[in-house]
Amino acid sequence: MNKLKFLISLATSALLFISCTESEHKHNDLAHENKKETSHIHSDEVKVESALVVLYPTEGSETNGQVIFTKMDDGRIKVNAEVYNLTPGKHGFHVHEFGDCSSPDGKSAGGHFFTDHDNHGSLEDHKTHVGDLGNLDANSDGIAKTTFITDKLSFSGKNSIIGRGVIVHEGEDDTKTQPTGGAGARVACGVIGISK
Ligand code: CU
Ligand code: ZN
Repeated sequence: MNKLKFLISLATSALLFISCTESEHKHNDLAHENKKETSHIHSDEVKVESALVVLYPTEGSETNGQVIFTKMDDGRIKVNAEVYNLTPGKHGFHVHEFGDCSSPDGKSAGGHFFTDHDNHGSLEDHKTHVGDLGNLDANSDGIAKTTFITDKLSFSGKNSIIGRGVIVHEGEDDTKTQPTGGAGARVACGVIGISK
């Protein structure tokens, strides 16, 4: 074999090698896409009907309780909260970004959960944080019980609250002060888990 022929055959092998690895890449990408598609379909099959939060006191607090979120037939979410050992009066009540209550002050739960609107406000105003649920109102025994229905929250899609945090605050949420409503310290924290 002369030198030129050798070089040509070397170049051809190199080209063959490159085109093979390229088609393998394409194949892998396709397999990856298929995999993504499958897991997407799978996650849509999980239909959460209700979610439960157990609220634990943060450091120095004795506030505890529970929140049950239930999906109604029309798709709206019913919120049922019972919270104990509060000071009488109003207490900010929000869904926060992270289902993480590991820090003693509850700040590991992050800020208010939001998607389209980064604006703090009331439960009734839809152009606000998804997690803005207003206030709990504790009686003279420090007990707050409330039930309301909202179409702000969801168990699926981008506004899903599953796995996020719930925080009860020391003070009242004025539904105006940015970005938190000025509700002060966090007295209880819980994680939104699937119940049914
Ligand atoms: Cu909050
Ligand atoms: Zn907010």
